Order: sequence, then C-alpha cells, then structure tokens
Amino acid sequence: MRGVLATRWTFLSNVSAINKLRLTRRRLLQNGGLAAAAALTPRKMFSDSPALLDIASLAKFVDPLPVPPKAKPTGAQYRLAMRAFEAKMHRDMKPTRLWGYDGICPGPTFDVPSGSAITVEWVNELPSHHFLPIDHRLHGAEAGQPQVRTAVHLHGAKVGPESDGYPENWRTPGQSATHFYPNGQEAATLFYHDHAMAITRLNTVAGLMGLYLIRDEFEDSLQLPAGPFEIPLVLFDRSFRKDGQIYYPVSGKPDAPWVSEYYGGGILVNGKLFPYLEVRPQKYRFRMLNSSNGSFYVLTLDPQRPFWQIGSDQGLLAEPAPLGQLILGPGERADLIVDFSGKSGQEVYLGTSVGPILQFRVSGNADISMPLPAKLRPIERVNENSAVKTRTLTLGDDQNRLGMSGMMLLNRSHWSDPVTEKPVLNSTEIWSFINLTDDTHPIHLHLVRFQILDRRVFDVTTYHLTGKVVYTEPARTPEPNELGWKDTVRVDPATVTRIIAKFEGFTGRYVWHCHLLEHEDNEMMRPYEVIAS
Ligand code: C2O
Ligand code: CU
Repeated sequence: MRGVLATRWTFLSNVSAINKLRLTRRRLLQNGGLAAAAALTPRKMFSDSPALLDIASLAKFVDPLPVPPKAKPTGAQYRLAMRAFEAKMHRDMKPTRLWGYDGICPGPTFDVPSGSAITVEWVNELPSHHFLPIDHRLHGAEAGQPQVRTAVHLHGAKVGPESDGYPENWRTPGQSATHFYPNGQEAATLFYHDHAMAITRLNTVAGLMGLYLIRDEFEDSLQLPAGPFEIPLVLFDRSFRKDGQIYYPVSGKPDAPWVSEYYGGGILVNGKLFPYLEVRPQKYRFRMLNSSNGSFYVLTLDPQRPFWQIGSDQGLLAEPAPLGQLILGPGERADLIVDFSGKSGQEVYLGTSVGPILQFRVSGNADISMPLPAKLRPIERVNENSAVKTRTLTLGDDQNRLGMSGMMLLNRSHWSDPVTEKPVLNSTEIWSFINLTDDTHPIHLHLVRFQILDRRVFDVTTYHLTGKVVYTEPARTPEPNELGWKDTVRVDPATVTRIIAKFEGFTGRYVWHCHLLEHEDNEMMRPYEVIAS
C-alpha cells in the first residue's frame, strides 16, 4: 500500500561507522531524522518552548517531489529577486512564511556550460524586518546595522573577489548586486546561498538557497542519465510551530538569542516533508546537496541496495564509488546514480537513521538506461611535495572577549583580526586543521578546489598541555568517494585533517569558514587573501 512507512526500515546499527565519524552523541541524536526531535531535551530548554508541530505524525508520501525550475536568462544576463512568500511544506500543513530567490525555495536551478560567462543581478526585494531572531552581540549584526542584509555567494565557484559575496559586502532591501561568473571550471554541482555577516544562518533557514550546475563536454560524453532522469535533491531540516511557521530556537537570554547549532525536527527534500517521486525502472542521476545549517546525514536506501557516487563538491570522481551509505555534511554535495531496474511495482525509500524521507514509486518500463561508465574523469592526486607551505590551523573551543567559553574560533582568531592566511597566486599549500573540539566541523574555502590528503587522530589532552600534536593512530586516507575535488571537508573531533589546494584564478580577499552556519555567524570564519607573486 502506498503511503505506509517502510516497515523493514533498517536502523543504523553500524556503530563502528559512527565511531569513525566521531559525531558527538548530541549530534548523532539530532543527526538525520529526528522523528523524535520535538521530545528531545534540548528543545525544551529554550524559553519560548512553543508547541511544535509533530512532524512524525504527518501523513507520509502524499506530496509529489517538487523539482525547482531552471533559471531563465535574457541573453547571458540573469536577474533574480529575493522575495518573501508562503509555501506549503506538506499537504496537511498551513503555509509557511519563507524568503526565496525568485520567491521559491529552493531557488531556480542554474544550468550553464563551462567556459561561458554569465552575469546575475541579485536583487534584494525582501521586507526590511527579519522574522528570525537576530543576535545583536554578534560581530556585524550590531543594533545599528540594518536588520535585513544579503550577500549572495556561489559556493564552489572560481570567481573574482568582487563577485564572491564577501560577507561584509551586503545589500539592503531595494538594492542589488551584479555578479560576474566566468564558469571557467569543470562540470560540478555548485550552489548559491546567502552569506551576509552574522545572519547567514537566519537567511538560510528563511530559504535563500538554490543549485547551480556547470556542465562540460567531457561530462556530456559520458551519457549519464539526463533530462527527466536527472533530478536535484536539496536536503535541509526544519522545525515548525503548529501554525506552520518555522521554529528557530533562542537561547533564553533575551539580548543574546544565538544558539550554537540548529537541528530541525524533520528533513525536507526540495522544500517538502516526506515527498514521493514516480520513477521508471532504470538509472537516475541525483544531484544531492545538504544545505542544512547544522545536520550531518547518513543516507541509505531501503530496501538496501547499492548506489554509486560519481561526483563530489567540485565535479566528477575518477570512477564511480559504490556506496552502502552516504555521509553528507552541511555544504557538501554528492552526484549520485541509483538504479531502479527490476523494481517495477515496488517502492524504494531514501532515508536517514531515523526513517525514510523520500519515497520512490517505481513503475512502467525503462526508457533507455546506459551502462554506468567504469571510468569517469581522470583525476591526478596532487603531490604533497608540490606544496610550498603548510599552514597549521586550529579549530578551537575558545573563550570570547567577555571570557565566556563555548565560542568556536579558527586558529584562535576573530573575524576582525588581521588577515594571517595569504597564499601566493598559483602556489600550492597544505592546510592542516587541528580539531580541538568535540564536533565535526565542515570546513569550506572559497575560490579554490582541493583534495583531502588524510585524517589522523591525535591526543587532545597532550596538545593542550604541551602544544604538541601526538598521533595515536595511523593516518587514514580518504574513502573512495572523497578522493575527488572538494571544497568542503568534514574535520572530525580530535583529528588532524589535511587538504592540499592550488590558489589559482584571482587575487584578493576571500573567506574560509565552518559551514555549520551558527558557528560561521559567531566568529568561526576568517578572511584570507590571495596575493600576487
Ligand atoms: Cu557555502 Cu562561504 O559558503
Ligand atoms: Cu563549526
């Protein structure tokens, strides 16, 4: 019967996989699915503790999966306005107030060929008051600043600094910013989202995000599933009040509402709770994005069947990586192939540890299903010896200027401290992240693509006492699906994670930061500058 939860849903029992991930228990509870999130204690701590909508009790798989429309240019010029609007997140919910590019969430999908430049006029037509709780203590969101500010960043794009959406280069309602995107990079699944200083988490929860696909001839020659067989899956989690409005928690201190992480009570796919998608019994290509503020997902198919990752943040892998489960952190993308062959008349579910989030209804006949190529794009591993510099950068649980701990800093520096990372144009560097915290942080560098070299567990106590990194395990090389080009890397607790990048394309001021948006908004972001040689 349709609409009935998969009874054979396999709960995540792979404890070693979780240990490997080293997510904290708190994050694990919240991670992925959260059917019971409303009952979890952290929710109750918040002073405004509203009556939340019980997402788990909603009827399952009654709404078709929406597919965002393609962005439409006039010539090579696009114009997208950010607007307030209302949308139903589920058949049985009241409409939810949102902000979106072109008045939808996710926004329109850009689909552009590599090598042909476009310009986008990003127009801020939002109201002048924010509907989510601004914390005026955060640097950049002081009481004197306009409440509603936007800075559009194209995540993963190699663009000049003036078009990168620098967090302080924001626009207010009535203003616009015209960005030039050269698209001089390989085919990849990029995404655009707001990046305004100290309110990125709120603008994103409000709905300001969308996909940006770059294609190229090499990728086209692989004849991957296309047209109706290539579908974006944008995942983010939200909690709602009973009246259907987004619930964003506050700390309980009226003048300091910032909370350290946001986890929703349900995971939406393309802006719907528990949607279904009708598919044919053949291969599909899914462009998956985790645009959640703080949730990591461990995704599986039920009935369990293998699927393949063919691309990561910055494009195709060297060869398809077969997956039993997919781990995706905030800001990461996965280009996936799922084969529904032989499943006609059946249902397949995509879900996390807590339960299914999307139902595939398989019916009819296959159209054409090309075999999956054994090789994709050749990727040369970057030689460590090509690095002219290694930067050692801590991710720390530090005290803020008022002496309150719980503030996460990068290399013990605040946003407004002098720029310390100044790679020379066209030089290659290793960045070695020492994670002193109990959380996994997805670290993102603007402008560049990088490769993950390795991850290695060390003793944090010894580090605190002596300042020395003493490794307690051998280095782990990346899993096959992390061997391609990345722009966001999961940096696990008590682990040194090393990446290698060539700083090509442009000189100027960019940023690097944690993609847990609550952290990013509260000082876990630093400027960096590519300087001329
Ligand atoms: Cu997706 Cu600097 O961000
Ligand atoms: Cu973080």
